[in-house]
Amino acid sequence: MHPSELLRTKVINADHVLSNHGLRRVLGPFDLTLLGIGAIIGAGIFVLTGVAAATQAGPAIILSYVIAGIACAFSALAYAELAASVGGCGSAYGYSYAGLGEIIAWIIGWDLILEYGVAVSAVAIGWSAYVNNALAAVGLALPEVLVKGPLEGGWLNLPATLIVLILAGLLSLGVRESVRVNAVMVFVKLVAITIFIAVAASHVEPAHWTPFMPFGWSGVMGGAALIFFAYVGFDAVSTAAEEAHNPQRDLPIGILASLVICTLIYIIVAGLLTAVVAYPTLNVGSPVADVMLRLGYPWAAGVIAAGAIAGLTTVMLVLYYGLTRVFLAMSRDGLLPPLFAQVNPRTHTPTRVIMVSGLLMATIAGLTPIGDVAELVNIGTLAAFFLVCIGVVSLRYTHPDLPRPFKTPWSPIVPLMGATSCFILMLNLPLITWLRFLIWLLLGLAIYFLYSRQHSLLATASE
Ligand code: ALA
Repeated sequence: MHPSELLRTKVINADHVLSNHGLRRVLGPFDLTLLGIGAIIGAGIFVLTGVAAATQAGPAIILSYVIAGIACAFSALAYAELAASVGGCGSAYGYSYAGLGEIIAWIIGWDLILEYGVAVSAVAIGWSAYVNNALAAVGLALPEVLVKGPLEGGWLNLPATLIVLILAGLLSLGVRESVRVNAVMVFVKLVAITIFIAVAASHVEPAHWTPFMPFGWSGVMGGAALIFFAYVGFDAVSTAAEEAHNPQRDLPIGILASLVICTLIYIIVAGLLTAVVAYPTLNVGSPVADVMLRLGYPWAAGVIAAGAIAGLTTVMLVLYYGLTRVFLAMSRDGLLPPLFAQVNPRTHTPTRVIMVSGLLMATIAGLTPIGDVAELVNIGTLAAFFLVCIGVVSLRYTHPDLPRPFKTPWSPIVPLMGATSCFILMLNLPLITWLRFLIWLLLGLAIYFLYSRQHSLLATASE
């Protein structure tokens, strides 16, 4: 094997951004922004903010949101540039294949599979808990053994398994249908958040913000590394490149608009949560609804629970969608078996990928506890963002003449600041998360060397 083989790149040509291989171009800038908000607002704000404020950052969780938001903003600019100039539904995987070489592309693709796949399973487990709470409220709670996997003393987390299979069915039906369902549920979760903001704003007690930073800066940074999960998903907009009407204009709009809207919402919600109750009391499963109950608004708590269920559903839907598109791109390039590369001619969706990945994620969701999976998702995502930022700098150097309908400002400073801030957040994650991540990467490298390297279209083309 010659080392240059590992760094072979795909040629970028003018048609690349506009090709779509059988998928349908049905998404405009508004749809893409909704897709982004659909993927972003979920378990992060509805669940993790409480744990992070109570155990890591205190009221300064608001700073954690600002810091994670800034790291994401740099990365979002990098994503916007590459989505508009390189394109393709493989997102960061495709960009790095063009700019950084096959082995790096494989690592990013493998990383994105971890990000999206584990995130869908994790959010499905959280969704199951919310749904079972709602069923319990009307006296229809499921037996314990049907809402817990065997590692926690149950048989199977049935609602978590079922929701993944239902979403598999929906995604197979077609992108238009999925986008419509997504839009309705995004509306429901935005209404829930608006009600929270309106009610909580009249109960602010400034005394709750003293002390503001009880765990110091290390708490703020640890909090930022954990609630980074809340931002995961804006990058999934870029996987819709082949289904966007005008990807070069609309993808940057969708990526940046959804991130800006969600960052503002997060800062307001996190600020209010810690200003209306004492931060140590926020360590509960559903802090946003719980605060409404404690303030004496059970109706608002009910609407927020419904919003959270809708919110978690859209997160799963969009991340699942992203997962299948990355899978599709990798198998089209020969790095994963070609049977995944087919798009069903009737539905225009990659039904095989949807079903196979759905069965896997449903199994994980049904059998494992939520545990530390959010942090595993974060490290995978941060690593992908890091490489995307480096990709912008590298492509500016190797392909200076590539048409760039959207340009990251002040390159290379902004992308390098993006890479640095992602790396700093990674350093704030626990050692066990790093170990799990390294095991995942080693497994990926083993598959690459045993299968993908020989089956890559670039390898077969040069024979
Ligand atoms: N950002 C998504 C969430 O918070 C993954 O659920």
